[in-house]
Amino acid sequence: MRILFATAEVAPVAKTGGLGDVCGSLPKALAKLGHEVVVFMPYYRQAREWFEDHGIVPEVAVPPTQVMWANWSAEATILRTTLPESDVPLYLVVNDHFFDRQQIYALREDGFDDFLLRYVFFCRAIVNACDILGIAPDILHAHDWHTALLPVYLDSGLRGNDSFRTTRSVYTIHNLNYQGIAAAAAFAITGLHSRYWAPDAVEHWGQVNPMKGGILFADQVTTVSPNYAREIQAPVLGAGLDGILRSLSFKLTGVLNGIDVEQWDPATDPLVPSNFTAGRLNGKNLTKRKLLKEAGLRHRAKTPLMAVVSRLVDQKGFQLLTPVVDRLLRLGAQLVVLGSGDAQFEDAFKAVESANPESCRVWIGFDDALAHHIYGGADLLLMPSIYEPCGLNQMYALRYGTLPLVRMTGGLVDTVTPFDGTNADRATGFGFRSTLPQDLFAAGWLAVLNYRETKVWKTLQHNGMSIDFSWDRSAREYDAIYRRAMIS
Ligand code: ADP
Ligand code: GLC
Repeated sequence: MRILFATAEVAPVAKTGGLGDVCGSLPKALAKLGHEVVVFMPYYRQAREWFEDHGIVPEVAVPPTQVMWANWSAEATILRTTLPESDVPLYLVVNDHFFDRQQIYALREDGFDDFLLRYVFFCRAIVNACDILGIAPDILHAHDWHTALLPVYLDSGLRGNDSFRTTRSVYTIHNLNYQGIAAAAAFAITGLHSRYWAPDAVEHWGQVNPMKGGILFADQVTTVSPNYAREIQAPVLGAGLDGILRSLSFKLTGVLNGIDVEQWDPATDPLVPSNFTAGRLNGKNLTKRKLLKEAGLRHRAKTPLMAVVSRLVDQKGFQLLTPVVDRLLRLGAQLVVLGSGDAQFEDAFKAVESANPESCRVWIGFDDALAHHIYGGADLLLMPSIYEPCGLNQMYALRYGTLPLVRMTGGLVDTVTPFDGTNADRATGFGFRSTLPQDLFAAGWLAVLNYRETKVWKTLQHNGMSIDFSWDRSAREYDAIYRRAMIS
């Protein structure tokens, strides 16, 4: 099959979270199955810098061309290269006005938030490029709100066009809480006919909702774990779209994300100071010592090193951690934090660091190399997420012998088996269910106690390190979903 991926992020070129990891690695796994995959992403400043740093010069595939839709027009240049470490074509949509910004999701220079326009432009530029380059995909695979309008455009007449005559669409929800909602007046930006301004199209309670359009018009809808696929069909985690998802559950599937097991391999990872395997964990101890040194913390025997590597936003649940973190540290634990996001969480962690300079170090920022070092060197990874569509961090942690301590929600339920004192033969971490800080504390306490039980701890590490999180299984599930889309 010819498959086109349309995505706002691709790792390692430009990413802010897991969407990038998935769109940087799933296409390679699909190509291995024999599919012809092409990927489109915006040419952000971060992408340009990444290629410059790696000495790669993408070639011009389409010189500057006007992209026109309804009353709109903007210029796009299309560059072509390949997904790093693969032959999968990667097309970059260039328009500096929209994409040359300080951060991937930064506002326009004058402070105006042109989010809908930039990604509508991105979608229309993809359509235009396909026409010019003769790319005629069997499957158009759109991701999250940024490219959610592509299935709507397909419905609205694109199938009359040579490139898309037989194209079917698959839409993947990576995070239901970011729907790309805009005020009613912004509907004109989409360039859609007014019949799409309706409750059974992109109108939602008087606003424009691209994600709703993607869900309604895609031939198949997926999300990134089976448990999250169930959760979003109920009001608590349905973010206002649970009714629609329930009524369309016949075309909704949860496919657990995989991870790039070559890039994330403790036995070969160049960003881990001392490589190790499940059979020879000595390198993990050395990596921990180096990490503590970098953090300016003393190595203490029988003291677990807890870690956070995360976007610091409400979703990730650190409001449950901060009230009890001092007590966890007093139990005899240390903590390193790498993250950035809302000032409220950045400040709260900074305050924990100032109050506990001997046992806590906080790095505010985004640092891929340090993230690898932390997964390698920490003993526990804390993920008290309020909701978690899949979560990749816990899978990286498991692979690096770092036990995840998670709130049992979304994909965390599908990937972590919490230790309850009796199931050491299969447990891989620690877990709690409620949204009460004291329950997080209780799980943390159990973890700290068991850290001193070397045999139990090692068994749990082995259990986690032997799980196969590679993309092979999930890629086969996507293959089946594409086939279903083709016959719908
Ligand atoms: P989400 O996409 O919701 O942020 P995931 O667990 O799916 O959560 O993916 C997060 C990805 O982003 C992981 O690859 C993680 O290592 C990375 N990440 C998050 N914050 C940082 C940071 N501050 N520095 C480096 N990598 C980070
Ligand atoms: C989103 C989710 C995260 C998921 C990632 C990749 O960012 O928050 O849970 O792992 O997408 O699918």
